[in-house]
Amino acid sequence: MFPAFTEDQLAIRDAARDFAMAEIEPGAMARDHASEFPADIIRQLGEMGFMGMNIPEAYGGAGVDYLSYILALEEIARVDASVAVTMSVNNSVACAPILKFGTEDQKQKYLKPLASGAVLGGFMLTEPDAGSDAGALQCKATKVDGGWKLNGAKAWITNGTVGRYFVTMAITDPTKGKKGISAFVLDADQAGVVMAKPEHKMGLRSSRTVMVALEDAFVADGDLLGQLGEGLKVAFNGLDGGRIGIAAQAVGIAQRALDESIAYAKTRHTFGVPIGEHQAIQIYLAEMEAKVQASRLLVYKAASMKNEDLPCTLEAATAKLFATESAVWVCDRAVQVFGGYGYSAEYVVERLYRDVRVTTIYEGTSEIQRMVVARQLLK
Ligand code: CAA
Repeated sequence: MFPAFTEDQLAIRDAARDFAMAEIEPGAMARDHASEFPADIIRQLGEMGFMGMNIPEAYGGAGVDYLSYILALEEIARVDASVAVTMSVNNSVACAPILKFGTEDQKQKYLKPLASGAVLGGFMLTEPDAGSDAGALQCKATKVDGGWKLNGAKAWITNGTVGRYFVTMAITDPTKGKKGISAFVLDADQAGVVMAKPEHKMGLRSSRTVMVALEDAFVADGDLLGQLGEGLKVAFNGLDGGRIGIAAQAVGIAQRALDESIAYAKTRHTFGVPIGEHQAIQIYLAEMEAKVQASRLLVYKAASMKNEDLPCTLEAATAKLFATESAVWVCDRAVQVFGGYGYSAEYVVERLYRDVRVTTIYEGTSEIQRMVVARQLLK
């Protein structure tokens, strides 16, 4: 296997696979249909060290390497992409920025509970009028005695209503444009953070996605994450890692779609033979396999660079672009292989088709990934 994984990495992958099959798979369809958040599963993942996998043990994490995290995430996503995104956001864009940019006090106060899974975290960058153009955000931080008061709206916040600590970007100096944006760790457990009803989504229905109003939400001076005016750097650095995670999520979903299609192609008969004997189906399966394998290699490459703490903006965006676009295609073909049954909520490919769709949108659309890749190539 490329890269040559260590025994420890493979053991973590196998533990994730076993847990996913034993504990996540049985209720996945019912949770999706009921839009039920998998609170007990997330608690168990925390106990296994999966909510802060790359965070040192001293700060409550598992202290394992980035490839192990990616291997585990793919296995979880293969079974339930809603669980995977909950885990991914906590690991990549809540814990990781606090580890990289946080002070010792912030690590003790916020990272320990987040990485141990005692509380959930998230990332408040996007706003109703600032998604792809993140630098156009409008949320304002006004200086007050001992800290800042945040006012504005944040949109599509994963782990809203179920999370507590959110890495949050706001304008601290409106005269400085993008250099006037700063990052904070916001405690959502206060009256000034108003969470709306969770969004009713096409997919990932058992993950929480929420619109948030910040109404004089207080952050102390000590909650500033990184330097004043470096909020976008904190955000985009976090997203480099986050995008590898979403690419791994896409690979997991696509692998499941392929596995389901192979099994179905052997058992479903038309014209007197299993449909897998028809060349049309064989061509689909072969192309699905090629896309899954190629995506996985791109994810491993980006993850290996992240593992070495090398700059990986180009590799992360390339992996996300290719893996998510491929996964959408693979899931579409899976529905086609299943025919009418693929359109039925009784079959898992229907959920995969809905779940995968957001992967080309969140943590930067495919159009933004192309922009990031091209900028890296041309700079
Ligand atoms: N790492 C660190 N710093 C970075 C960086 C990176 N990868 N990329 C850029 N920066 C820095 C730049 O150096 C710059 O700082 P300086 O001026 O000091 O050099 C600063 O960040 C701003 O960069 P740009 O001027 O290049 O920013 P831009 O306005 O041109 O935007 C963009 C670039 C790529 C389009 C960016 O806005 C972007 O990625 N947009 C998509 C936003 C996104 O992915 N949102 C996802 C929301 S989170 C989510 O979905 C999570 C979830 O819950 C599932």
